[in-house]
Amino acid sequence: MIQFKDVSKVYKTGDKEVTAVNHINLHVDEGETCVFLGPSGCGKTTLLRMVNRLISITDGTIEVNGKDIKDMDTIKLRRSIGYVIQQNGLFPNMTIEDNICVVPKMLGWDQSKIKTRYNELMEMMGLNPDEFRKRFPFELSGGQQQRIGVARALAGDPPVMLMDEPFGALDPVIREHLQNEFKRIQKELKKTILFVSHDVDEALRLGDKIAIFDSGNLMQHDTPDQILSNPKNDKVVEFIGQDRMLKRLTLLKVEDLVSHIVGFQTRQVREISNNTPEVSNQDTLKTALSLLLASPVGEGKVVDEFQNVLGVIKVSDFDQLTNVHPDQLLAAR
Ligand SMILES: Nc1ncnc2c1ncn2[C@@H]1O[C@H](COP(=O)(O)OP(=O)(O)OP(=O)(O)O)[C@@H](O)[C@H]1O
Ligand SMILES: [Mg+2]
Repeated sequence: MIQFKDVSKVYKTGDKEVTAVNHINLHVDEGETCVFLGPSGCGKTTLLRMVNRLISITDGTIEVNGKDIKDMDTIKLRRSIGYVIQQNGLFPNMTIEDNICVVPKMLGWDQSKIKTRYNELMEMMGLNPDEFRKRFPFELSGGQQQRIGVARALAGDPPVMLMDEPFGALDPVIREHLQNEFKRIQKELKKTILFVSHDVDEALRLGDKIAIFDSGNLMQHDTPDQILSNPKNDKVVEFIGQDRMLKRLTLLKVEDLVSHIVGFQTRQVREISNNTPEVSNQDTLKTALSLLLASPVGEGKVVDEFQNVLGVIKVSDFDQLTNVHPDQLLAAR
């Protein structure tokens, strides 16, 4: 759906040249969220803005839906791609309603369709449409402004979204809330999304795939679990952190692990005691491990959503994680 073919960007400033993006080859499937991850200045925004031609490409081609973007009409291209700017970029002298409805108006939608769309988007973002309709951006909190930025990018229902650190500079609680909303909305809308972040946990939470960059070079493009369990080189390890195996525990669920434990179900009768904590099979392995470590018996009952006991999990079961290939673990889902 989005294909980068040998894409480079060299900025010329005075007599100096900066290679911001260096021969990138990358494919993003339809309906997939690909997170561009990497330190400040590694070229994430540059790569993103080349897709809607806000920045010209020095070398190589970018295709959207099989069409080379340089052969497309710029205005049409931009209207078909939702763009959330780093630091939200709302129009300060326009009301919230006008900010959100910019693209539908340009697309010539009729008044009632535009009104309905506004209400729908505000509800999607968890904001009351009437309360905010006539307010200006400065009258909103940072988190609310960022949600308006996301709503505005979604307004024309574009199949492709470019999101440049849309949840940056927010406190961890609002950030996590918006990330959860993003996941819920994306499950429904299935847009093709390029999402820029420099936050490893955010990338792991939101990306179907993650592309890690360093100084304009693509280090690794893989699923979150592959990045954590098989980082390609030292730069990737350095960026994702030495605690990558702990991060991996937040990615995997209890059900992923217990399906590989021999005798898991038959343990239940013998070993459950009153001190045994309950662990949901939908909990992350991080939550499960924390519960098990806090338990005097070092084990827990695994229950399903109807509270049926499925078996017993032990701290020692986590040894499995060093033996089982990630694809095998997730294949059980
Ligand atoms: N207009 C420009 N002229 C010259 N150099 C630029 C220009 N825009 C960006 N650069 C340089 O290109 C490199 C990549 O910048 P870019 O904004 O793409 O990084 P980024 O990964 O988005 O960083 P951040 O996480 O800080 O937003 C940086 O070294 C930056 O200084
Ligand atoms: Mg940037």
